[in-house]
Amino acid sequence: MNKLSIIVAISENNAIGKNNQLLWHLPADLKHFKEITMGHTIIMGRKTYDSIGKPLPNRRSIVITRSKDLVIEGVEVVNSLAHAIELCKQDEEAFIIGGAEVYKQAISYATGIHLTKVHQNYEADTFFPEINPTAWREINSITYPADEKNNVAYTFSSLERI
Ligand SMILES: NC(=O)c1ccc[n+]([C@@H]2O[C@H](COP(=O)([O-])OP(=O)(O)OC[C@H]3O[C@@H](n4cnc5c(N)ncnc54)[C@H](OP(=O)(O)O)[C@@H]3O)[C@@H](O)[C@H]2O)c1
Repeated sequence: MNKLSIIVAISENNAIGKNNQLLWHLPADLKHFKEITMGHTIIMGRKTYDSIGKPLPNRRSIVITRSKDLVIEGVEVVNSLAHAIELCKQDEEAFIIGGAEVYKQAISYATGIHLTKVHQNYEADTFFPEINPTAWREINSITYPADEKNNVAYTFSSLERI
């Protein structure tokens, strides 16, 4: 695999979720996620899969669980992050799409991060690990103000490992 990329949306206080759901309604970020991941493999933890509730169309889905007997139609189920990564070794780019437990393990293997920064603080129960500024460099960034569809300002950026 050439690239293993994390894709995540993080609030100002590093929050990513609460009660197994996202914290914001940002259609622009959903569109951005769709455009970036379309046609690629997406790797996720079982809880994130549950929160989405179905395989996302036109993407190969790999779900990580400790369960030995979980079967999900349209999804490849594995018992470790290493096995998930192994299954993508022919891919040009594969994506780690969360959640917190999986990001925490994957950040040391990832070659890039597609980061959406949501410019607000949220009360949350799941957080993204600290992004070490000496390990990652920002290669592009564009900020959008809140508008009628997206009620908070946000920034799309890409980070690559230094
Ligand atoms: N803001 C964002 O961009 C974003 C993106 C994705 C998710 N989220 C949010 O994040 C939250 C979910 O995150 P989470 O940390 O609770 O859960 P998660 O990382 O999605 O899933 C955790 C589960 O994955 C499995 N797992 C994790 N590591 C494993 C390993 N090494 N080996 C085998 N199985 C492993 C286990 O499944 P089993 O319990 O089945 O064994 C574990 O309970 C939700 O609120 C969701 O909305 C936010």
